[in-house]
Amino acid sequence: MRIPQEKLEEIAQANDIIDVISSYTPVKKRGKAFLALCPFHPDKHPSLNISQEKQVYHCFSCKASGNVYRFVQEYEKITFFEAAEKLAIRAGIELNLKQTSPDISNEISRLFEMNKITAKFFNNNLNNLNESEEDFIYGYLIKRNIKNQTTIKFGIGYANKEWDSLTNHFKEENVFTHDELEKGGLLVKSDKDKEKYYDRFRGRLMFPIFNENDKVVGFGGRKLYEDDPGGKYINSPETKIYNKSKILYGLNFAKESIRTQDFVILVEGYMDVIALSQAGITNVVASSGTSLTEEQVKLVSRYSKNVVIIFDADLAGIKAAKRGIEIILEAGLELSVVSLPEGEDPDSLINKKGKEEIQKLLNNKKSIINFISSLYEKENKMSTVDDKTEFIKETISYVSRIPNKIKRAFYIKELSSLYNLYESDLRDELNIAVSKYRKETFPKSSVVIPRKKSLKDIRSGKQPSQEEMDLIEIFIKGDEESISYLENNLETSFIKNILILKITEIFLDEYMNEGRIAVSKVLNNIEDEEVISLITKATLDKHELSVYDKSKNNLIGTPRKNTIDYLKYAKDIIKKFKINELEEEIRVLGKDETKINKIIEIKKQINELSKP
Ligand code: CTP
Ligand code: MN
Repeated sequence: MRIPQEKLEEIAQANDIIDVISSYTPVKKRGKAFLALCPFHPDKHPSLNISQEKQVYHCFSCKASGNVYRFVQEYEKITFFEAAEKLAIRAGIELNLKQTSPDISNEISRLFEMNKITAKFFNNNLNNLNESEEDFIYGYLIKRNIKNQTTIKFGIGYANKEWDSLTNHFKEENVFTHDELEKGGLLVKSDKDKEKYYDRFRGRLMFPIFNENDKVVGFGGRKLYEDDPGGKYINSPETKIYNKSKILYGLNFAKESIRTQDFVILVEGYMDVIALSQAGITNVVASSGTSLTEEQVKLVSRYSKNVVIIFDADLAGIKAAKRGIEIILEAGLELSVVSLPEGEDPDSLINKKGKEEIQKLLNNKKSIINFISSLYEKENKMSTVDDKTEFIKETISYVSRIPNKIKRAFYIKELSSLYNLYESDLRDELNIAVSKYRKETFPKSSVVIPRKKSLKDIRSGKQPSQEEMDLIEIFIKGDEESISYLENNLETSFIKNILILKITEIFLDEYMNEGRIAVSKVLNNIEDEEVISLITKATLDKHELSVYDKSKNNLIGTPRKNTIDYLKYAKDIIKKFKINELEEEIRVLGKDETKINKIIEIKKQINELSKP
């Protein structure tokens, strides 16, 4: 069961972190800071720092860190959910997660109820098959390798061949009128006799479609009999509770696993979800019956920002999937692709080669760039200059959809090094694509596309530099103006530390979506311990923003204490980053005596930047 984000915030607000930690271990106030002996390692001197303002803790010794939920979770060795329950009780907040008894008092609740009864009816049919059906249906389930447990989990059922089987079942129940069952998509009105109704689904294997809260909202019915003139699938029509563009098949079963594994696998069919899930790969959903929509992507992005799409693909396939790919990228999600051998879908592949094969493919998932290039190569369209140009243009058109400019820069960097092209040329092409896309999407706005510096290699593993820590601190403590300044002026190439880069992305996302950055809330969605620790450290660090050495570069912070001019800090940091880049450039040029003029030029730029 999942506690809504608003509820989590309500509970956190009612449980001040100082009060909660004090109930476990004595907390002392020292100036603005709160200190305690850290319960997570043998601690002689209080090294657990707690911020009341930001509602986070950080141990400067063992690096234990987090918000109030995490403290309780770690201290009590319980799950996040249990910690939330405990804190809710502590604050007298009702979690209200219990199921209520069936409610048939209004139109919507009646729709839910009739779908639930129908799902039970279809499922129960599997136990009441007549002899000839029994062999056929069980034979089919065996042939498709659908295990009994899977039938139970997914509520799979059978609609028999009769015209009035479900109609009669509801007649006996006598709760719903034919008219409302028809509006619910379960019965169909006869063309000839307007008084007559018959079953929509006949002679089909039935897959109930659940919404996120495990309620049946509709059905997909798989054709079973050769003489059935209908299509392979018959699906419920849209109703007041079933909006196809807002439902992802399997999400109710997959959401926890999507969250814990931090990625979602997107497939095409009901059977693919079922087969993967049966094989133990449970973080999987399908956009059944429609092509992928923005709403579906938004829905799933609440659980993870990483999407893996699996498809049986050639260049034609990618053209067909183009809109879906764009939607995923536009939502700012991280996309990778798994391609299957021709003619296979995940279900057929598992049944032929076992789940290890799928696991292997998942482990070798490709970035969108690698994926598209492998398709071009496979189809021999990577040899002439024209072909390559087409490939680059196509790829850049995808990259242009990514809202985060830091991410876009990563892709450009990757393309440039893969194909040995000038980054600046690619950037020009990208800028054209971005403005074209923006014109399509926001025809009247005049968005300025900032020029981007080249992206240097990330020195991962190294400690963050002082500027990088300062940067994070401004995100956490700064006002709107300073963060907005960073958003517009920060370039990927400035950041050398991979963790800082990750955090910057998280913060910028949060800022773009919420208009502000609430640290304690952001922490609810981060699992990487190192990232959590870095954020809380920046929040609680004793020496606040560093003051730059005047003699070196003339950048000096205004005196701090009460009124901190974060905007000025933000500007100083951006300057400092730029100076660092220029100095780096001088170091590189330094070995080449013919470049002396260039060096002088750069030194002038540094002097210019160093002016207060
Ligand atoms: N679909 C549909 N109507 C059809 C065909 C397909 O609604 N006539 C939808 C279904 O949601 C289906 C998905 O598109 O699950 C993918 O189609 P397909 O790959 O053909 O179906 P599978 O789920 O793979 O079913 P099966 O393996 O039984 O062929
Ligand atoms: Mn299939």
